[in-house]
Amino acid sequence: MTDQRTQELTAEFRRRFATTPTLMAIGPGRVNLIGEHTDYNDGFVLPVAIKRDIRVLLRPRSDRRVRLYSLEYDGWYEFDLDALAYDKDVLWANYVQGIAWVLAEQGLALRGFDGLISGNVPRASGLSSSAALEIATATAFLAASDLTGALDGVQIARAAQRAENQFVGVNCGIMDQFISMLGEEGHALLIDCRSLEYQLVPFPSQGALVIGNTKASRSLASSAYNERRSQCEAGVAALQRVLPGIRALRDVTSAQLEKHKTLMDPTVYRRCRHVVAENERVLATVAALERDDLAEVGRLMDASHASLRDDYAVSSPALDAMVEAMRSVDGCYGARLTGAGFGGCAVALVRPGREQAVAGAIYDRYPKATNIWPEVYTSPAGPGAQLVELA
Ligand code: GLA
Repeated sequence: MTDQRTQELTAEFRRRFATTPTLMAIGPGRVNLIGEHTDYNDGFVLPVAIKRDIRVLLRPRSDRRVRLYSLEYDGWYEFDLDALAYDKDVLWANYVQGIAWVLAEQGLALRGFDGLISGNVPRASGLSSSAALEIATATAFLAASDLTGALDGVQIARAAQRAENQFVGVNCGIMDQFISMLGEEGHALLIDCRSLEYQLVPFPSQGALVIGNTKASRSLASSAYNERRSQCEAGVAALQRVLPGIRALRDVTSAQLEKHKTLMDPTVYRRCRHVVAENERVLATVAALERDDLAEVGRLMDASHASLRDDYAVSSPALDAMVEAMRSVDGCYGARLTGAGFGGCAVALVRPGREQAVAGAIYDRYPKATNIWPEVYTSPAGPGAQLVELA
């Protein structure tokens, strides 16, 4: 890969490390078409990898030292593979150390590397820059250690999720790491987050994605995320009294939930109603995509947003303003918040050729509603993780 960005990063690596990089590991960000807050309920998700990624240019070392330079954080970080330790002052480095920790836990003999890290996935925006860094880093460690192929894609995704849960301390599901690892150009991925089976779903030729970044603070996101997870667990516990066979909300139908709603408190019921209906919407979306019914896909996306706003309560005035701006344009099939919510991005499915009109409506309407200047991105469905030989 000799695109301009890679050339610039190669030159930067030479300046920083006074030697040449031999490999480049790439982890893309993602946008989720539908299936929000379903992954940690053993449910279904339908994300796509986007053409924005984090790249680790590297040169393997023969010892156990890892020397990193992050272009975006403009900072060096060094650690030894025999002395991994959470660093509360350099948060980005914990993702790298966490990956080293989880791979070592699996008995893999890692070697160190010199690495330049650089990305263009907007940070803290709900486009999974963390998963992109984890997947790029895992790919880098495996390559530096001559272990490419030692784990399959699903195993790498699981390892990356574990690093984030247990080393970084963020209680995320599997979706982001999975799509960053296993995404395919021109496709969405239907992931069954229980069995971890997945199916490629061709991205429709009559559809294009517009992503609107609210640039609104997500300060509530992590505490609310954990609270939602507990509420889902409370719902399962209540339902298990009458449905002993269920393990997760994935096993519950809308009819069952309605029948037994009095067993749980009304807030827990509304959280469960979102998850159960959202799982049904993901499968309905795949069916609609298979028959090229993009009007129906858009309707399902709109319904997903309403459910996330009203039942799951993870939208925000900024996200609502963003989807309204997107939907104001003829040629927008549907729009919804994407990712955990509370801020970050919304995604619209639009008719190809209408991307600029949707972007124009966002820049026109969204600042008036919120006093915040947004960012807008378009991206086709891109590939998952890649390892590129340089030089
Ligand atoms: C975040 C998490 C994912 C998923 C989404 C909500 O992106 O990292 O695992 O739970 O929120 O769908």
